[in-house]
Amino acid sequence: MKAVVYNRYGPPEVLKLKTVDRPMPGNKEVLIKVHAVEVTKADCELRSFRFPVKWFSWPLRLAMGIRRPRRPVLGGYFAGEVVDMGKDVSGYAKGEYIFGCAKLRMGAYAEYMCLPDHYTMVPLPHNMSFAQAAAVLLGGLNALHFLTKAKIQPGERVLINGAGGSIGIAAVQIAKDQGAEVTVVDHNSKEKMLRSIGAGHFIDYENADFTRGGQKYDVILSMVAGSSYSGIINTLRSNGRYLMANPRLSDMFRAMITTFFTDKSVTFAFAPEKRKELLKLKEMIEAGRLTSVLDKIYCLDQIVEAHHRVEKELRIGSVVLSPTGIDTNL
Ligand SMILES: NC(=O)c1ccc[n+]([C@@H]2O[C@H](COP(=O)([O-])OP(=O)(O)OC[C@H]3O[C@@H](n4cnc5c(N)ncnc54)[C@H](OP(=O)(O)O)[C@@H]3O)[C@@H](O)[C@H]2O)c1
Repeated sequence: MKAVVYNRYGPPEVLKLKTVDRPMPGNKEVLIKVHAVEVTKADCELRSFRFPVKWFSWPLRLAMGIRRPRRPVLGGYFAGEVVDMGKDVSGYAKGEYIFGCAKLRMGAYAEYMCLPDHYTMVPLPHNMSFAQAAAVLLGGLNALHFLTKAKIQPGERVLINGAGGSIGIAAVQIAKDQGAEVTVVDHNSKEKMLRSIGAGHFIDYENADFTRGGQKYDVILSMVAGSSYSGIINTLRSNGRYLMANPRLSDMFRAMITTFFTDKSVTFAFAPEKRKELLKLKEMIEAGRLTSVLDKIYCLDQIVEAHHRVEKELRIGSVVLSPTGIDTNL
């Protein structure tokens, strides 16, 4: 089968299309034909081993390989078809369409992948293509995780910083669905798209600093590493909640102090990406309350271009790879 392999950390050009053995499912594993996988900012960070928040790199280097990648095939958020399974697998059927996450095991930049049957995978939403479903996973699971913790009340003012990325696009829709008045901060090239999915107010980060605009918010979700901690805390109303998706180590200590000693709270817990949460996303998608925004769909042999597009932020929405080519005409 064809797979995109990398054997050293570096620029997009380290990714090579190769022919490798098709994996065989173990007793408790499912063999999946991958029809679509999102090319995420996190994939680019793992490939280059450069993270906006430096402390990420210590534990990740141990997990992912100190000198070179231990797992040579990237790709964590996929949609595809169950084609085979081990003898002890239950709960899946051959030919079933699914979408889900491979966590740090990854491996979806390939025509086929095997995953343990307990991983977070559920039936494909009936109203989405494989590409649309792959594009909503990372953003949807992370946004749902953070915004559930915020316990948004209808009418509350929510600000999403870095709203034009994978997590932000889902967060805008989920906050709006929960009845919030949504303000977004991102590059002006993303304003039209963000307004089309429910943003009420737009702030261009190149021309304005939302922490100095005089407006206060009940909830602030920030994906931007290096956001001013004190600026954001001062921009919250009383009982306000700050959700940090990309926390610096120092901000994590300050978060505990803010939460214990003030009427504001700060959350930085990573999303567990559980099956229960994915089922909730599927329900929202099928009810028309959440959708994905697709920028471009690439074939496996265009992987270098795809990584450049994500890394340089040339995209409006998600970039998706289609290993079987099934969705590239959309
Ligand atoms: N905590 C978690 O559980 C978790 C999970 C997954 C990912 N992450 C991390 O969270 C980060 C964001 O993830 P993502 O996939 O949503 O990233 P993304 O798709 O790259 O989105 C980031 C967005 O922020 C915008 N941006 C850049 N600088 C900004 C600034 N100063 N002010 C406002 N907006 C700005 C970017 O636009 P332009 O660059 O075009 O300006 C882009 O639209 C990544 O570093 C990822 O590794 C965290």
